[in-house]
Amino acid sequence: MQTEEIERLIKISRERPLLPESYIPWQQEPRAEDIFLPEILTSLHGLDIYDTLTPTQKIELGRHELVQVIASYAWGECLFCLFMTRYILTLPLADVRHRFLLRELIEEFRHQEMFGQAINKLGGEPIPQSRLHKFFGEFSNKYLPADYLFMGSISVELVTDVYGNYARKSPGVYPVIRKMFDLHNIEEARHILFTRALLKEYAAKAGYIKRTLYSYVILFNILFVRTMYVKKKIFERTGIQNPDRVYKMASKNFKQKFAETCLGDIIEFVDSWRGFNRATRWAWRRILKAKV
Ligand SMILES: [Fe+2]
Ligand SMILES: [Fe+2]
Repeated sequence: MQTEEIERLIKISRERPLLPESYIPWQQEPRAEDIFLPEILTSLHGLDIYDTLTPTQKIELGRHELVQVIASYAWGECLFCLFMTRYILTLPLADVRHRFLLRELIEEFRHQEMFGQAINKLGGEPIPQSRLHKFFGEFSNKYLPADYLFMGSISVELVTDVYGNYARKSPGVYPVIRKMFDLHNIEEARHILFTRALLKEYAAKAGYIKRTLYSYVILFNILFVRTMYVKKKIFERTGIQNPDRVYKMASKNFKQKFAETCLGDIIEFVDSWRGFNRATRWAWRRILKAKV
């Protein structure tokens, strides 16, 4: 990415900051008819069992699953900030990338605070990450080289962007949540632009093996995200019968739905630097059900 282009992104971030304090109508309480997560993104939508739920159960399912999504974002961004604070130390202060990443950090910290506040507003009780998630999250954050971590971050950004876009476009969504996603999408669009360009440079220099490794890092990051949202406890909380059985059905349904709705942009990105090859394509198909 050209220096002038990054300077332009820095300028927008400085001159047109979106502050969650004033941008989001925190004072508005949810109305009885407000939904929290667009139905299509809930884990049970599309299954017969979904039609047997009462309207309140449907809303509650969306509320709990959305809380899970937001809490996972906040945790992922917190980990990414840890990495970025280490990474910018390797770049001189005057370097345009250093200055851009400082803006990104400022925005990411604001996002985390906003996510916490939104969870509070929803009366949410996020279910903590599993031990495996914690281990992989912290381990990779500490030990993977920068290019791999940026690959991971863009995969999460591109996938979660889909959630934001659905929420922004669904008219019945609780305004606090709609504006939260609005703000997040606008600022993340700049991060994605920067990271995408940075990674194009890395990928252009990468040979077959490195591109294969990049592709796997992205794949595992997506798998990581996908397995954080659907939780058995949520079905218990919503008073759904047979939570064990429903959990299994929901996980399977969500896997399919996720493949159909969330992977378009990331597939296009990986394809742009020939990240699908004989060693990776089968895994994308089998593990993520991606059409590649
Ligand atoms: Fe963010
Ligand atoms: Fe970001």
